[in-house]
Order: sequence, then structure tokens, then C-alpha cells
Amino acid sequence: MKPVLCNYYVTYRCNAACGFCDIWQQPSPLIDLGDAARNLDDLRRLGVRIIDFTGGEPLLHPQIGDLLAMAKARGFLTTLTSNGLLYPKRAESLRGLVDLLHFSIDSPVPHEHDASRGVKCFGKLMESVEVALALGERPDLLFTVTNDNVHHLERVYETISRPNGLILILNPLFEYNTLGAGLSDEVMERMAALARKPYVYLNPAFLTLRQRGGNDPDAPVCKAVSTSVVISPFDELVLPCYHAGMEKLPIEGRLYDLWHGERVAWHREMEGRHEACRGCTINCYFEPSFAVSPGTGYFWESLPSKARYTWTKFVVQRLSARLGPKAADLPDFEQPEPVPSGDGAATASDLIELPVLR
Ligand SMILES: C[S@@+](CC[C@H](N)C(=O)[O-])C[C@H]1O[C@@H](n2cnc3c(N)ncnc32)[C@H](O)[C@@H]1O
Ligand code: SF4
Ligand code: SF4
Repeated sequence: MKPVLCNYYVTYRCNAACGFCDIWQQPSPLIDLGDAARNLDDLRRLGVRIIDFTGGEPLLHPQIGDLLAMAKARGFLTTLTSNGLLYPKRAESLRGLVDLLHFSIDSPVPHEHDASRGVKCFGKLMESVEVALALGERPDLLFTVTNDNVHHLERVYETISRPNGLILILNPLFEYNTLGAGLSDEVMERMAALARKPYVYLNPAFLTLRQRGGNDPDAPVCKAVSTSVVISPFDELVLPCYHAGMEKLPIEGRLYDLWHGERVAWHREMEGRHEACRGCTINCYFEPSFAVSPGTGYFWESLPSKARYTWTKFVVQRLSARLGPKAADLPDFEQPEPVPSGDGAATASDLIELPVLR
């Protein structure tokens, strides 16, 4: 099986300090462009189609525009999620280079969002939405849903997502190490209810996985190793996934060979079977896992939501951009002048298989 995507950690550094994430606590370099060029060539040979430049905060990499351009030049679909702090400064240089741009939002209430992110950043986030709209981008809003912020979902939908025609992605909180907490049944019901509305994306299979207690090492659903290549800022291949991180193989320009070597074969055989994998619900690995497991309930349950996301992203948003989008009032900011977007590189067939969450 060919891996579908690469989670390319350009740095673990971050300019925020979210309570449900510990990536920002790790010391980290920034990836080197020469290493990235070699790895992107090998990723192409491996059959990878999507590069998610992630972190930490990916916009902290001063050459993030060059990295995106390198991936685009090799024909990859690119995705990037940002907390928005640096986007207004970088937006012009990123224009047209990110096929799927996501901004993270945890609350429509400025001080609550800031408290969740550990820094004052709501204002920059709203400015990022404005700037992106003005440049003709259609960023998705990535809402990490917790027991504490679920009551704000509707307001984010009504005031930011719907009026601007932006997709609201519901990202159920997952637990790892000592972070995160289980979601209550009521929270999951609220998410499922909102997901019926247009412009809202939720993969319902995430909820089913949770209701069943997460991944079972005796009958694993996880296909992290088969589907996802994880590269660290230290230029290591991380196995079996970023969060378990049991083995880190220095790449040194031989990603293709490593991928076909013994260690990766072993991790592929063991994916989802470790004791650490018991109860796991880490969305970013399960979405591609569901997509490559035809015949399972998770596959069929995921499909309509993916189709709806693709339709909205590929048809509705592009059509509305051509007709002349309007930017609605955003909290605390003036309306930008909208600019119609050009064609992106993504195709409908890429998008239907796309892991929306990461
Ligand atoms: C790891 S961050 C990297 C990109 C960027 N720093 C940001 O926050 O947008 C990617 C996404 O993962 C989400 N995330 C972090 N920890 C999570 C957790 N425990 N459960 C679910 N989502 C989480 C963040 O809210 C963010 O939307
Ligand atoms: S902004 Fe992103 S990487 Fe930084 S701490 Fe928050 S979730 Fe983690
Ligand atoms: S089950 Fe979770 S911890 Fe185990 S390999 Fe998959 S994503 Fe990683």
C-alpha cells in the first residue's frame, strides 16, 4: 500500500502554548531546505500525494513559502494549519501555495480563545480570516471541540463560518500522553447535530470510534504507518506516528530506502497493535486509516462527509468565488475588499480521499 500523505513537521517550536498540546514544549530546529528537497523527491517516488506542513506553528519557519512552492512544483497537494498569529504578515507570500488552509479556533469569545491558546491571539486570528478572504483564499476553521467549548460551536458557525462561506471543521479533542480528556456523550451529540448543517465538516466515524473505546490492539483500525509518513524537524522518520514516536530513524537523504526497509515493515505489521495504541482516537491518523479500509463500517460512515466536504470545497466555494464572494462582518474588524480567487491545484479526486483533519 502506498502512503497517502506526509505529516512534515517543519519545527516543533510554537508561538502559542495550548493546554491540550505539548508539541510547543520541545526544543526544536527548523527543517533545512536541502533535506526537504531530497525528501520531497522521495515522497513523490513513494506515491505520497499530500504534504501537510505542520508543527508547532508552521509559519514560524521563515522559508515556509519556499517549502510550499517546492511541494507544489513536484505536484503535491499542500495543506497547512496555523494559529493565525503570523498569517497576516506572511499571507501575500503564501498566496496560491496552500490548497487547504486551516485556521485553528477554540472559541468565538476572545479571552476564552486566548486562554485556550495560552497567548493573546484571537485578534490576529480574525485578522487572518479577513486577510485570507481579501486574497481570495477560503480557509477552513478548525475547531478543536472539548467538553468546555462545545457550547460555542453554533456561534462560531453563525458569526464567522456561515456568513463568509467558510467550512467549519469539527475536530474532536483526543487524548495523548497526559493531555486531552474524553468527550461526553452530550458533546458528541451536539457535534453530530451541528454537522448536519451546510459548511460543517465532521467525520462521524470519529465519534463511532470513541463510542467503541478507541483503537483495539487486538483488532486494530489504525493504519498510521501504511498511510502516513511522519518527518520530524530533526530530519528523522518518526514511527509509528508522531504521538507514539517509538522509533526515530535519521533520514540522511535515504527516505525511499528507509521506507522499503525492515524497520518500517515491522512497524507496519505492528501498527495499532502496541499497548500504547489501546483506546487511541488520534484523528489525524484515523481519517486516512478509515479511507484505506474499504468494506469496514468506518469507511462507509466516513464517505458521505468526505463527499460533502469535497463538494463544498471544490464546487460551492469556487463557484461563489467566481460570482464574487462577500466578506461578512467579523468580530471586531472592518470588512475587507473581496478579491475573487483563481483556480487552485486540487482536483475533486484528490479531495475525496483527502484526510481533512491533521
Ligand atoms: C498541532 S496543531 C499545528 C498547527 C498550528 N500550531 C495550530 O494550532 O493551528 C494542528 C491542530 O491540532 C489541534 N490539536 C492540538 N492538540 C490536540 C488534541 N489533543 N486533540 C485534538 N486536536 C488537537 C490544534 O488545535 C490544531 O488545530
Ligand atoms: S498553536 Fe498549535 S502547535 Fe502551538 S501549542 Fe497550540 S495546538 Fe500546539
Ligand atoms: S493507534 Fe494511535 S498511537 Fe498507535 S500507531 Fe495509531 S495513531 Fe499512533
